[in-house]
Amino acid sequence: MASSGISLGNQRHTGPRRYGAAVRPDQLVNDTPLLSAIKRCDILVPEYHGQWSAVEWQKGEPWYGNYDAILDFAQQHGMAVRGHSLIWEKMTPDWARAEMLDKRDWGTVTRHFATLLPRYSGRIADWIVVNEMIDTEDGEKGMRRTSFQQAYGDDYVATALLTANGLDPRARLMINEYALSYDNPVDEARRNALLKLVENLRKRGIPLHSVGLQGHLELAKGAIPQKRLAQFMSNLADTGVSLAITELDAIEADRHRSIAERDAAVADHIQSFLDVVMEQPAVESIVTWGLSDRHSWLQENAPDTLAALSHAPIDGKRLNRGLPFDADMKPKQMQVVLNDAMRIQRA
Ligand code: XIL
Repeated sequence: MASSGISLGNQRHTGPRRYGAAVRPDQLVNDTPLLSAIKRCDILVPEYHGQWSAVEWQKGEPWYGNYDAILDFAQQHGMAVRGHSLIWEKMTPDWARAEMLDKRDWGTVTRHFATLLPRYSGRIADWIVVNEMIDTEDGEKGMRRTSFQQAYGDDYVATALLTANGLDPRARLMINEYALSYDNPVDEARRNALLKLVENLRKRGIPLHSVGLQGHLELAKGAIPQKRLAQFMSNLADTGVSLAITELDAIEADRHRSIAERDAAVADHIQSFLDVVMEQPAVESIVTWGLSDRHSWLQENAPDTLAALSHAPIDGKRLNRGLPFDADMKPKQMQVVLNDAMRIQRA
């Protein structure tokens, strides 16, 4: 089954890097400043409407309305769409979890992939096949204990990539991971575990074309260890995959200073990260996890995450300022930093 429609050689892209953002279908409807910013993207990623639980909440009754809306919009405006994601434990419907653990039959996963890959073949060019599979703290041999891992064993990632490749040989296949950017024992162990996984998959000729580094940055974790990060990215690139920054944003460490100081701190941190990223030729795209602070997942969907991660006591009125535009769509310094980085490499 290892035959793949695209060569598994070096996947390094040529040409300019693409810029993009996560979007929600309701943001594509009304003519707002947010929509104008979305229209400047090269690539859109469904923020959560593309997940298994969003598409097939009820077994056997897939609903494509939201995915189609994002794809139609992207197509109309000449943008690419990244599928996100085929496997992610957190967004796996309960019925599927139960079925996998009960029957241990890969058919459950194949049927899920078959609801999406053939339908969007040629329209979704790259797919995050497995999201967040590493866990060096509570996992087994560095692999997160998910329903997939429990039902099918650690090699489910390879099986998933082969299955996706079989259903859409043209698609470029990715895995995507978080907490890889800082100088601490956990991030270091996670980098090593991810690298080991990627090396293993590539050595076996498993169709893995690109690796996504989420890039949810946290200022409280200290400075970006630029040398170490550059080394890590270069080790990944040496396996022949391309790289993508897939979910860039920043969690502030201190939300009690002036807006100007806060925005400067975020921009400096992003700059320090991008300095490394832009130096690595294997990086093909940079996607921010939203555009406006108003709609950031950090404040809307995961206030507990934000509270846990931001070392400042939470004050409901102070939104985290970790995206390129503020809540009123005023561009911040982070937008300037991103723009400059993209402009330099486009020139
Ligand atoms: C988040 C979305 O932004 C939220 O709206 C949703 O409720 C949960 O997921 N890593 C990922 C993304 O890969 O899919 C997550 O997005 C953020 C963490």
